[in-house]
Amino acid sequence: AVGRLLEEHPCDAVMHFASHILVGESVADPAKYYANNVGTTLALLQAMRDARIDRFIFSSTAAVYGVPSCSPIPESHALSPINPYGQSKLMVERILADYAAAYGLKSVCLRYFNAAGADPDGELGERHDPETHLIPLVLQAASGRRADIAVFGRDYPTRDGTCVRDYIHVTDLAEAHLLALEHLANGGVGGVFNLGTGIGYTVAEVIEAARLVTGRPIAVRDEPRRLGDPPELVADPRLAMRTFGWQPRLSSLETMLQHAWRWTLQAERTAS
Ligand code: UFG
Repeated sequence: AVGRLLEEHPCDAVMHFASHILVGESVADPAKYYANNVGTTLALLQAMRDARIDRFIFSSTAAVYGVPSCSPIPESHALSPINPYGQSKLMVERILADYAAAYGLKSVCLRYFNAAGADPDGELGERHDPETHLIPLVLQAASGRRADIAVFGRDYPTRDGTCVRDYIHVTDLAEAHLLALEHLANGGVGGVFNLGTGIGYTVAEVIEAARLVTGRPIAVRDEPRRLGDPPELVADPRLAMRTFGWQPRLSSLETMLQHAWRWTLQAERTAS
């Protein structure tokens, strides 16, 4: 079907976003992750070769670093994913490097840190089933849809004991994809790039900022550490900034929470 699509609608480049993304599920059912994230990507790449399309933008992940040995993390950091989800994304990165050498496929792998926020006008946002991500869950606790938010571990070696993550607004992520595409179109070489802000927030800081943005109380429930969570994941995003002229514009924690809150309220109104 993809082969037919590419023949019927000729295009210059492909952006590949689709994959399974739940770390825990990938540990329980790795076959599902390797089949979908690697197997179907191979099929897509073959369809592109058949259609002679040679530019590719790939959604990769900070999970390729595993438990990092430094912070912020540069792209040159060792790659040692600790779950099949991260492995599956790293496998595709390696496949793309081999395809570049052998077939001249030009690709950009974008290693997302923690995607957050929503379309600024509130029409598009994230809706996962089941929802496992911190910010949507915190906002559901603020709206009353959930009783509270679980904090997974307060004994990490971080400033307040909770995990640190680098949250990046989905609109800033989207913009980086367009700039990467332009970069390839202008003859730039492909490669691998972190997409984050370089600034990390703890889980407790996110919850406190959400109380301020929403003006609602948010009850917290302490839980043990979640398996496989590294204490801190913060990007060194300078390579993407230098190469693409990319600059996150909407990725302050307050703006991301405001946009996600607007989306949450709108989505809950529509559902009720
Ligand atoms: N957390 C809580 N309570 C919750 C949910 C999350 O305390 O109810 C904590 C987590 O322990 C973690 C932080 O909030 O420390 C962020 O968790 P998310 O699940 O929102 O995000 P992750 O950092 O686990 O996941 C991100 C991406 C995934 C990707 C993963 C790879 O969102 O898609 O990085 O490491 F797979």
